Amino acid sequence: MARGNAATERHVVSVAKPGPEETVLVVGPGPGVGLEAAAERARLVIGIDPSREMLDLCRKRCADAIRSGNVLLRHATAARTGLNAETADVVLSVNNVHLWEDRAAAFAELYRVLRPGGRIVLSAHEKWLSVSRHALAAETEDAGFTDTQTWTWQPPGPLAARAAQLRAWRPS
Ligand SMILES: C[S@@+](CC[C@H](N)C(=O)[O-])C[C@H]1O[C@@H](n2cnc3c(N)ncnc32)[C@H](O)[C@@H]1O
Repeated sequence: MARGNAATERHVVSVAKPGPEETVLVVGPGPGVGLEAAAERARLVIGIDPSREMLDLCRKRCADAIRSGNVLLRHATAARTGLNAETADVVLSVNNVHLWEDRAAAFAELYRVLRPGGRIVLSAHEKWLSVSRHALAAETEDAGFTDTQTWTWQPPGPLAARAAQLRAWRPS
């Protein structure tokens, strides 16, 4: 997974462009490639994942950043992050929206933990989605996000699956 999705994880960080004073929430980081990439740019990166096995992989990959307080890991889900309201400037999600049990609850929770003016960037293998990227974009707007944009992105490599991506904002 770390190798297969690494380009997408890094691409999503480059789309979100977290700044040096910002806090990033990474939902479902898996082996932690996106966490590591976000930690090179942001002040604080919080990774939440319901899999203790994946959190262990993140712990290994980001050991230095965890030691320095740049990365925090939490056992949690998209719908129940356990974070205070308006904690994050940026939310990133790569290849896990199809696993959320209740997408409406998850988008509402991610809206709650974003500060006003914050952004969410989401990517998923298009073939894994049970709804179109346009329907997913509409769901973010139902949760209160605005200015949602959606597009597709082709990761490098002959076997890489096309990604559906979106970016949306919590209004200021
Ligand atoms: C297919 S992996 C993708 C990992 C990584 N983002 C990548 O693209 O390589 C899905 C990840 O989402 C996590 N996950 C599953 N259900 C979740 C949920 N409800 N909320 C947040 N993360 C979840 C899994 O434990 C796993 O780490």
